[in-house]
Amino acid sequence: MSAWHRADGSLDPRKVRAAYPILATRPGGNPLHYLDSAATAQRPKQVVDAVSNFLFTANANPHRGAYALGTAATDAYEGARARVARFLNVPATELIMLGSATEALNLVARSWGRANIHRGDLIVVTEAEHHANLIPWQQVAREADADIEFIPVDDRTGEILWDRLDSLLKLRPKVVALAHVSNVLGSIAPLAEIASHVHAVGALLSVDGCQAVSNMPVSIPELGADFYAFSAHKMGGLFSGGGLWARADLLAEMAPIETGGDMIREVRLRDATFAEGTQRFEAGTPDASGTVALAAACDFLDELGRAAIHEHETRLLARVLRELPDALPDVRILGTPHAEGRAGLVSFSSDLVHAHDLATILDRRGVAIRAGHHCAMPLHEQLELSATARVSVAPYTDDDDLDALFEGLRDARAIFSR
Ligand SMILES: Cc1ncc(COP(=O)(O)O)c(C=O)c1O
Repeated sequence: MSAWHRADGSLDPRKVRAAYPILATRPGGNPLHYLDSAATAQRPKQVVDAVSNFLFTANANPHRGAYALGTAATDAYEGARARVARFLNVPATELIMLGSATEALNLVARSWGRANIHRGDLIVVTEAEHHANLIPWQQVAREADADIEFIPVDDRTGEILWDRLDSLLKLRPKVVALAHVSNVLGSIAPLAEIASHVHAVGALLSVDGCQAVSNMPVSIPELGADFYAFSAHKMGGLFSGGGLWARADLLAEMAPIETGGDMIREVRLRDATFAEGTQRFEAGTPDASGTVALAAACDFLDELGRAAIHEHETRLLARVLRELPDALPDVRILGTPHAEGRAGLVSFSSDLVHAHDLATILDRRGVAIRAGHHCAMPLHEQLELSATARVSVAPYTDDDDLDALFEGLRDARAIFSR
């Protein structure tokens, strides 16, 4: 048993909450019930302490200073990269540290994509993708005069119809890009199975792992992906930070899309050669504090235990799925009706109460949920919804948060039933 667990090994959110000072604040005068961790997670004290320790004891420009403090900064940055790599079970030499998942997904499309997607080639994505995993491919397709096809979703639930993938694969795409966990549906993609089908036709699989890495155990080699992107601020790290794992042979062939300091081998007035490995994708001063924070976030998530986090969150999601239809009788729940097969979130809509009204009414009780299209406008259009409400959970979410959610939903129902 640890400081964060019950005697039976399960996560005790009351203990976990002590690590998050913000949860004791009262924005708007109400106790905070933060149910928007899928947008950005709250930061544990351990992460902020690690950043201040780095900035107060090892702050210098990494990879540059020929003095002891510079070496300390380089060691802290590279040590943090190694820690994040261990978290994902990949070699540090294959892990590019970037400013966000958006940067990582753009890097895949603009580096690998531009070099490998040509006129008439096909890119496959799902209809449910976050804009960050859709627009970069739209751009590549437009520039190359290539095509994009979409794995469709069920019109009612939004569930991705994976059984349609094989017919798209017969068209021989060059790449299939999709989310490990959809940020609207919450459903976990059966990646290993998808990867074997994608690879059988010689295509690559690029995965957006933003909503997976903090909610469940993720070991990249077991997934069969060729690229895997993730975001620090969804994991308890800072707003800056994130990364891309790329298969070693792909990484070796990829050209940088940003150039400047720190990514070069030699520069002459009319040309330059670039550094080997991950360094040539990290132009300019690296985000050392963001990476140190991300490593501390990985430490903390591992201290809590990712299997225990997933179990805890699955129990909370099961309660949300079970009680939503009572609270809002006309509710339309997106994604799988089962908590198993989900990670971290549930989105829903109601004809009685618009998602934005719901969020406003809930805010009166200090309940923070997300309302909108969640950067997945095409999915919402497909479902003929202008917006959905999204409840997302984290290791620090407890049943009091859900009690407040359901009380607020009943308020909303009473107001709009008048
Ligand atoms: C599935 C998914 N992909 C990509 C992103 C973008 O991540 P970042 O904020 O790190 O750019 C998000 C964040 O909203 C997301 O949920």
